[in-house]
Amino acid sequence: MYAYYVAARWFGLAMDVIFLVFLTIVSTTELYSVTDSSTAVIASVAILYSFQSAIEISGTTRCVVDVQAQMTSGERILAYTEIKPEKGHEINEQPPKDWPEAGKIEFKNVSLRYYENGPKALKDLSFHINPSEKIGVAGRTGAGKSSLVAALMRIGETEGDIIVDNVNIEYLNLQSTRQRISVISQSPDLFSGSIRENLNPTGGINDSEIWNVLDQMQLSFLVRSLPGKLDHLCTGGGTNFSIGQRQLFRLARVLLKENKIIIFDEATGKVDKKTAEQIQNVIHDVLKDCTVIIISHRMTTIQRCEKIMVLEQGSIVEFDKQHVLLNRQKGFLSELVRIANEGKMY
Ligand SMILES: Nc1ncnc2c1ncn2[C@@H]1O[C@H](COP(=O)(O)OP(=O)(O)OP(=O)(O)O)[C@@H](O)[C@H]1O
Ligand SMILES: [Mg+2]
Repeated sequence: MYAYYVAARWFGLAMDVIFLVFLTIVSTTELYSVTDSSTAVIASVAILYSFQSAIEISGTTRCVVDVQAQMTSGERILAYTEIKPEKGHEINEQPPKDWPEAGKIEFKNVSLRYYENGPKALKDLSFHINPSEKIGVAGRTGAGKSSLVAALMRIGETEGDIIVDNVNIEYLNLQSTRQRISVISQSPDLFSGSIRENLNPTGGINDSEIWNVLDQMQLSFLVRSLPGKLDHLCTGGGTNFSIGQRQLFRLARVLLKENKIIIFDEATGKVDKKTAEQIQNVIHDVLKDCTVIIISHRMTTIQRCEKIMVLEQGSIVEFDKQHVLLNRQKGFLSELVRIANEGKMY
């Protein structure tokens, strides 16, 4: 809207300048052409009409431009109605009530494209993750780490089978499946609403449970100090809290949801060392019965994981216990660690 008003102001000013020049030329010409009373009348009529036309033309042009600009909104809405809905919305089959109960994940020849006929972001991945395992995912930027999350959340076009606790997710309702897997990403935005609504968006969880989780996240002191406590409003996506606090609130929401599969995609990338350690402790203590996938550039974030998966150009190049991979002289993980130790980015 701001850009629209700026453009309208600029257009109005430009029109005024053009007509000012036009009227100056007409008036000066007419002034010099007056010789007697009859030419004076013609000159004054000409100047009068020039004024009138300037006002009319400027008004009409502004109206045409305004209609065109307003119609763009209609055009956009029409374009949105033609967007193809994501595959899976139409499926009525709901996942079983407590699914996933164990948190076992199997990928069988899974490939992912973000759009039809686009390049493959994941290429023929096959692996399995056991219930309650903590898996670290490493790889250079663009290797396909976040695409792994996209495949699990059924974003884009996937081929192959993704089986969670013996159920192929392709045949389940998309929204319900997504709700059963928690993802914490790097940019921790909160909803505009109270802290209670943020932690418990669907309702049904009582305040004592919320305070318990806030205690675990060491957030209860902060929340108790706020004027409205759990009713305190999070404004503008949570900008009245620091990034670290927002990330802890997000983690608190995930704990309250009690999903069995939780994915951290660079979740500690923007928080300080102490908060990162706190999140690590939650992963390995509070979430010990959950299957956790931790995607990170920092080795310190994934070093406590049971197994590490290394991705390169959409393929798995290594997937084993950390000490096995680090003992490989020319292994991919050893190389990533070496580059990181040298202080270079990867
Ligand atoms: N929304 C998208 N649309 C089209 N292509 C995408 C999209 N997201 C990612 N890609 C492509 O998929 C490939 C893998 O990207 P991905 O985001 O999975 O990498 P990553 O390993 O998570 O990188 P980073 O460490 O930078 O987060 C890249 O080539 C990228 O260009
Ligand atoms: Mg990523």
